[in-house]
Amino acid sequence: MEEFKLMPRTYGRFEDKTIVVTGGGSGIGLQTAKDLHRDGAFVHIIGRNAKKLTAAREAIGGGSKAFVHQCDISQEDQVALTFKSIEDTSGKIYGLVNNAAINPSRNDATHTEIKDWRDTLEVNLTGAFNCSKAAVGQMLDRGEGSIVNISSVGGLNAFTTRTSYNASKFGLIGLTQSMAIDYAERNIRVNAVCPGYVKTELTAPLFEKMGKDKFEALVSAHAMKRLGRPEEISKAILFLLSEEASFITGVALPVDGGYLLKG
Ligand SMILES: NC(=O)c1ccc[n+]([C@@H]2O[C@H](COP(=O)([O-])OP(=O)(O)OC[C@H]3O[C@@H](n4cnc5c(N)ncnc54)[C@H](OP(=O)(O)O)[C@@H]3O)[C@@H](O)[C@H]2O)c1
Repeated sequence: MEEFKLMPRTYGRFEDKTIVVTGGGSGIGLQTAKDLHRDGAFVHIIGRNAKKLTAAREAIGGGSKAFVHQCDISQEDQVALTFKSIEDTSGKIYGLVNNAAINPSRNDATHTEIKDWRDTLEVNLTGAFNCSKAAVGQMLDRGEGSIVNISSVGGLNAFTTRTSYNASKFGLIGLTQSMAIDYAERNIRVNAVCPGYVKTELTAPLFEKMGKDKFEALVSAHAMKRLGRPEEISKAILFLLSEEASFITGVALPVDGGYLLKG
C-alpha cells in the first residue's frame, strides 16, 4: 500500500488574498505562512525579532508575495500602523491568523508573578484582540473575512500549573465566539484551532527540561502516541480560513491526536 503523505496543496485557494499571520517567524506560524504562500496568498508575517523575520521571509522563498513586519501585537498603536501598511501594500485583509503567543510562567496561581500573568494576557489575548480589531474594519469593507485564533488544548481543558497560559487560551475561545456572533451576518467567520503538543521554539525548552520519562508520558497522553507536526496544525488553519469552511463559524477545533480523549 502506498505510504500516506501530507501532500502540499497547490491549487491557489487564496490567490491574491491578503492574509496576516502573527508570530509567523517560527513554529506553527511559519509553517502556516509557507502553506498560505504556496496556496497563492499575499502573506504578511508579524513578529518582534527582525532577524527571525528576515529568515522567515527567506524560508518562504522570499518572493514578491511575502512580507514581514516588526510589530509588538500587545501595542495597539503599533498594530494600527502595521495593519494600515499591510492594506497599502497588498489590499484589504481577507484572513488573519492570531498565532503569536508566549508562555513565560509554568506555575500554579500562588506562584505566578503578576508580571508574567500580565505579559501573557497582553500578548496572547489582548494582542489577538488588537489585531482582530484592526483587521475586521478592512474585512467589513471587502464584505468577507476569516479569522483563525490559535488557542490550545489547554484552552479547553486546563493544563496543570499553567495558570496564565490556560487563562489566555480559554479567553481566546471567548473572543472567538464573541466576534463570530457579532460579525456572522456580515460574512466574517471567526474560529479557533486548539493544537495538542507540537515541537517548536515555544515547547522545545520545556521538552528538554522535563527529562525522558516525563517526555514519554507526554507523548503517550496523545491517544495517537505521538506529537503533532506543524504542517498538521497548518492544514486545519488553512481549511478554516478557506471557502471550504464557508458555513463554519464560532468553533474551537481540537487538532490534538486524541489528547483530549485521554482527559
Ligand atoms: N507548540 C505547541 O505544542 C502548541 C500547542 C498548543 C498551542 N500552541 C499555540 O500555537 C501557537 C504557535 O506556537 P509555536 O509553538 O509555533 O510557538 P513559537 O515558535 O514560539 O512562535 C510564537 C511566535 O510568536 C511571536 N511573538 C511572541 N510575542 C509576540 C509579540 N508580542 N508580538 C508579535 N509576535 C510575538 C514570536 O516571534 P518574536 O520572537 O519575533 O516576537 C514567535 O515567532 C501559539 O499560540 C501557541 O500557544 C502551540
